[in-house]
Amino acid sequence: MSETNPIEALAALESDALAAIAAAADPEALERVRITYLGRSEGRISAILRGLGAMPPEERPAVGQRANEVKGVVNEALDARATELEGGAAAAGEDLTLPSRRPWKGGLHPITQAIDEIWAIFRDLGFVRARGPEADTVWYNFEALNTPLDHPAADEQDTLYLADSVLLRSHTSPVQVRTMEAYEPPIRIVAPGWVYRRDTYDATHTPAFMQIEGLVIDEGVTFVDFKGTLAEFARRYWGPDTQVRFRPSFFPFTEPSAEVDVKRVITRPDGTREETDWLEIMGAGMVDPNVLASVGYDPERYTGWAFGMGPARIAMLKHGVDDLRTFFENDMRFLGQFAS
Ligand code: PHE
Repeated sequence: MSETNPIEALAALESDALAAIAAAADPEALERVRITYLGRSEGRISAILRGLGAMPPEERPAVGQRANEVKGVVNEALDARATELEGGAAAAGEDLTLPSRRPWKGGLHPITQAIDEIWAIFRDLGFVRARGPEADTVWYNFEALNTPLDHPAADEQDTLYLADSVLLRSHTSPVQVRTMEAYEPPIRIVAPGWVYRRDTYDATHTPAFMQIEGLVIDEGVTFVDFKGTLAEFARRYWGPDTQVRFRPSFFPFTEPSAEVDVKRVITRPDGTREETDWLEIMGAGMVDPNVLASVGYDPERYTGWAFGMGPARIAMLKHGVDDLRTFFENDMRFLGQFAS
């Protein structure tokens, strides 16, 4: 060692160190290289610097300068390699074969889509859109609709009360009353909106749900208009082969009342056609004269008909969804299928 020229020894150390740095495959290996050459006690370059004192004084400046140079070069190479290894680690964490993320695509909720489609048909039939408050009074929700609070029909539509006579409307029928109060006949409206009931959350019930109310009032409106218009709606919505059935029913605010059912003809993927079961799509009827009187209309002069349907049920039918709750869970894997 003593016979080796320290300047040559430094040159050799420099090239050894640079080779070792280039070969270091990870940060730990690189740290070992740093200790080998620059470590305070064991480092080979440090050792030369420490040995300066034992050298002939005339050699010291040149060796010291060279040793510091080598130290600088090795330090720089260590830093550069460390940066390289970091970048390499990040790059190794990326899987370049992953498919790219799809751009976010918004869409209308399937129930909103059903409301829009239903609305478009009634608009073509000459209806306008109306709305009313979701928090309404006992008067509008029940009494003006010929439903005394002690009538069993009021029990069926039990809802949440916000104050003594203020409640969350249990159906969209109060919009009938509000519209008739605000306008004179002729009236042709559809009024979609949220309604609330004390219902248990299950596959076919949600305590908050959408309804679409319809109301027609004019002179000379008959049961034929009622049946004809609703049958026309069903055929436009589900196709010309759709059958419509009016089943006798009861609502305090219509007389006579009916549940309207449809039987559709569906085409299977293999091209065969098949009739579905009857499905109830709405409650409806001729507006009860007592309701006309409660808004100050002359029941001798005006007649009309009304309906209330559930667009969620219609959307379930259309898309083959068998659990109503999936519409409300906001699972993008489900809802995303309806984005158009
Ligand atoms: N409001 C009734 C319900 O929610 C439906 C209905 C509306 C029936 C209009 C007749 C006329 O059950």
